[in-house]
Amino acid sequence: MKKDTKQLSDYNFFDPQLLECPYGFYKLAREQAPIMELPSPITNAKLFLVTRYDLVIEILKDTSVFSSNFSTLLAGKEEQDEELQKIYAQGWPQVNTLLTADPPEHERFRALVNKAFSASRVNKMQGSIRQIVDELIDSFIDKNSCEFVSEFAVPLPIRVIADQLGVPQADLPKFKRWSDAFIARLGHMLSREQELECAKDVVAFQHYFRDVIESRQKEPKDDLITDLVKAEVAGERSLDTAELLSIIQQILVAGNETVTSALAGGMLLLAQNPEQTKLVQTDLSQVENFVEEVLRMESPTAGMWRVVKQDTKLADVELKAGSLLLVRFDAANRDPAKFPDSEHFNVRRQNASSHLSFGYGTHFCLGAMLARKEMQIAYEQLLLRLKNIRLEQGNYQYIPNVLMRGLKHLCIEFTS
Ligand code: HEM
Repeated sequence: MKKDTKQLSDYNFFDPQLLECPYGFYKLAREQAPIMELPSPITNAKLFLVTRYDLVIEILKDTSVFSSNFSTLLAGKEEQDEELQKIYAQGWPQVNTLLTADPPEHERFRALVNKAFSASRVNKMQGSIRQIVDELIDSFIDKNSCEFVSEFAVPLPIRVIADQLGVPQADLPKFKRWSDAFIARLGHMLSREQELECAKDVVAFQHYFRDVIESRQKEPKDDLITDLVKAEVAGERSLDTAELLSIIQQILVAGNETVTSALAGGMLLLAQNPEQTKLVQTDLSQVENFVEEVLRMESPTAGMWRVVKQDTKLADVELKAGSLLLVRFDAANRDPAKFPDSEHFNVRRQNASSHLSFGYGTHFCLGAMLARKEMQIAYEQLLLRLKNIRLEQGNYQYIPNVLMRGLKHLCIEFTS
């Protein structure tokens, strides 16, 4: 077999083809330049890619040096474009709440939102998750094949979140469209036309949810959005409309696309690894660890931004204040120093749950408990009901995006 002689400098990280399978590049980067400067198509600031597990943790732990307030650094296009500004002026200001807020402000938001996202709220959702899972499997099982992304992985989290945010079935296509628009903006690979379309979607989303917020204020229900609207913490101001809209937007984005990717990525791994599938299928008590290994291998939130607040040095690399870091969860999750035989999918991996797919520290994923619950219930039922899962010839494809990893489509066959 011909040996791959590619050097680190031969790779272009922003090449969509590389984003589809970046693991060969990551191996070299972790070994030769775990904090690697990249030419940036996104910002004038210096940009560094971080690929080693221990360094990713070090950065996420230190919020006094590494800030999550990356929204202004990435907002360049909006500031320079009058037409975009005009569209956004028809909505509410996009304030920094959870994901893009630093301590101490972050603490207020997180305390208020934790109230709504309690374990008891997630436990109450179990029955309806189970029901949606069963309905979705019923809808395709008799065909002995399906396009798993559109027939299962997209509708499950959307229906779960929509239910909790008070969105009726008829509005689900709109809901999905808004979610896609937010993700597309985050990935920073849009043409101007697409930027304008996304801006219109953002404003339409804001008006829709302003109405839902007002209706819950008048008439509370037993759902997440009522809990958010009503959340109170001693000594703290409740969430105002712009803050609520920002948080709902984050729940929409973070709670849909990521779970879709995790579900579809897991199904691809099942279809590609029949031996491993058999291990879980014959002992469903292994589903929990299987879910962790899927999260490690697939890393649906593949990376996230941090801004350097003050000059510092890490792994012998000088990082000037104002530099932008692209912290790679997907590279850290395959670091052999943490996960031996890291490229291998192993449902019995002892430390699978040490993955960083939900982040680490202050910004650790708010929805981790819900995401795990959705995945566990989904796979238990899928593995019970679908047998001999296999890929329909060559039929899967990843969507190129710098931050989110996910399959566009995945055609599978099975027996039932
Ligand atoms: C497999 C599914 C999911 C993955 C892989 C994922 C991944 C992540 C990651 C990596 C972070 C940390 C980002 C950072 O450090 O800057 C995060 C934060 C967050 N996630 Fe998730 N997430 C998932 C599901 C969900 C769900 C279901 C929800 C809500 C319904 C959610 C809501 C959030 C929110 C609001 C934050 C920001 C928390 C904060 O800054 O305090 N996520 N998620």
